[in-house]
Amino acid sequence: MSTPPTVRKVVFPAAGLGTRILPATAVLPKELLPIIDKPVIQFGVEEALASGLSQIILVSSPGKTLLEDHFDRHPELEEILERRGKSALLDGLRDVATQMELSTVFQDEPLGLGHAVLVSRELVDDEPFAVALSDDVIDADPPALRQMLTVYDEVGGPVLLVERVPRDAVSRYGVIDGESLGGGVFKVRDLVEKPDPAEAPSDLTIIGRYILTPDIYPALEATGYDAGGEMQLTDGLRRLLETRPIHAVELDGIRQDAGNKLGYLRAILYFARKHPELAGHLPELLRTLESDDALT
Ligand code: UTP
Repeated sequence: MSTPPTVRKVVFPAAGLGTRILPATAVLPKELLPIIDKPVIQFGVEEALASGLSQIILVSSPGKTLLEDHFDRHPELEEILERRGKSALLDGLRDVATQMELSTVFQDEPLGLGHAVLVSRELVDDEPFAVALSDDVIDADPPALRQMLTVYDEVGGPVLLVERVPRDAVSRYGVIDGESLGGGVFKVRDLVEKPDPAEAPSDLTIIGRYILTPDIYPALEATGYDAGGEMQLTDGLRRLLETRPIHAVELDGIRQDAGNKLGYLRAILYFARKHPELAGHLPELLRTLESDDALT
C-alpha cells in the first residue's frame, strides 16, 4: 500500500464545561488545572510535539482566552528570568511555545465532543488529523499519539486508542467490538457507547486520542444530535464505519483521567512520584498525612 497522507494537525477540544471539577473550573478552564507545575493540557501538547505534530488547533469556548495566553510568549516574565539567570525555568517556559503553531476556533455552545470536532473543519481542511482530549494524561514511550501514527501509516485510515478496563467499568466508556490483528491492533467491527457490562462486546474502551480522516466531518453532519441535544463523536465514527475500515490500537503506557476529582488527585500523585524535586519527599508526606489522621 502507498504511504497515506501525513498527519500534521492535532485538535484539542477544550470547550466543555468541566462541571465535575467545579467550582475550580468556573473561571479557569479545566485544561489549565495544574498537575504540580504543569497544566493538564501541556502534557497533551508535549505528547503531540514529541509525536511530530506541531500544528495545534484549540477548540475553545468564546471568552476563554486563558488557554491561548498560556501558550503565548511572555516577554516580561522571560526578561526577568533572563536577568536573574534562571535559564532552566526560561527554557521550560519557552520550549513549548516556540515549537508549536497554535490556532483557535470557538465552539459557541458546548454541544458535545462530536460538535467540537466538527467546528475544527475549516482549520483542519481536507487532511487527516489527530484529536487529543487533554483530560487523558498519558505517560508512554513512545508517546501515545506516536504509537497511533505508526498504525495509521500501516492501515492508512482512522485509528482509535483503546485500553482494557475491568468489566464493571465498561459502562462509562465507548467500547469496541474488534478483530485482533496481533501486536495490539484491532480491526473495529462495531462501537458501542456506554454498554451494560453484561452486553459489552469486549473490555476494550476508547480513550481520548483519535487519528481521523476528513470524511469524519460529513459523517458527523449526517449523524446530527442525540436525544440529549449533543453530537457524539462515537456516533459519527459508527456512521463512518459503514463506509471505511477503522482500526484501534491498545495503549502501551499509563493513562490518568484528570477530568474528575479522584482521577485528578491520582494524576497529581502519579506525577509527583516522577517529579525530580518531589519524588523523594512523597513517602514521608504520605506517612505524615496518615499520622495526622491518627490524631484527629
Ligand atoms: P467531557 O464530557 O469529559 O468534558 O468532554 P466536560 O463536558 O468539560 O466535563 P464535565 O463532564 O462537565 O465535567 C471530553 C472533552 O471534550 C471537550 C471537553 O473540553 C473535554 O476536553 N468538549 C466536550 C468540548 O470541547 N465541547 C463539548 O461540547 C463537550
